[in-house]
Amino acid sequence: MTAPTPLIAGNWKMNGDSASLGEALATAAGLGSTKARVAICPSATLVSRMSDALKATNVQVGGQDCRAELSGAYTGDVAAEQLADAGAELVILGHSERRAGYGETNALVAAKTQAALRAGLEPIVCVGETLDERKAGKALEIVTGQVRGSLPAELAGQAFSVAYEPVWAIGTGLTPSTEEIVEVHRAIRATLNEIFGAHGATVAILYGGSVKPANAAEILHADEVGGALVGGASLKAADFLGIIAAV
Ligand code: G3P
Repeated sequence: MTAPTPLIAGNWKMNGDSASLGEALATAAGLGSTKARVAICPSATLVSRMSDALKATNVQVGGQDCRAELSGAYTGDVAAEQLADAGAELVILGHSERRAGYGETNALVAAKTQAALRAGLEPIVCVGETLDERKAGKALEIVTGQVRGSLPAELAGQAFSVAYEPVWAIGTGLTPSTEEIVEVHRAIRATLNEIFGAHGATVAILYGGSVKPANAAEILHADEVGGALVGGASLKAADFLGIIAAV
């Protein structure tokens, strides 16, 4: 089984409008001969225009969430099929901002992951402990529990990645030590191997939480780190390219 191609994905969260497409285009223009696969996940409103704008480039477009159902009376929600129809190729699922803000459980994240596969989208499934959980010595238990509960059996043989995002490192400027990142990534790898056998080794495990050009090289070269899920620093092409260049 081959090692996964590093994936650097930008999560624009609820930022950006049509004027921001220039940053996505500048990212695509500045990629050079990177070894990384690069994606940007904008708000649902921008997926269609961004995928049109980036069509002839090496930057893929993803959604930030999807509903598990195919269609129906779910005001305000977006189906995986709608994201795919708009040009998305990937989708972030189970981000801690959705787990905390919308009560998303592992079971719901697993159902959304099944929906993503149904629509032909590549899931990026997020896991991560809170500061209290880390302080209580429960980081590994929480994260591996989320991995087991959020990844449906249908992922066997499919392309997907797992993003380890410690909740306390998101948007705070705080990052775990490299040793702490490696410890959690190794635990995720062991869990993936247990669930998926040899296929588990092909899954990229991304790190997310205050990744910047200044800390990207150390994080990205750590054992079992297969890329990054980047929030704030993905909004400006210059910062995002600085992270991509560290792969
Ligand atoms: O999904 C990415 C994210 O939660 C990390 O955000 O701004 O700390 O890079 P940020």
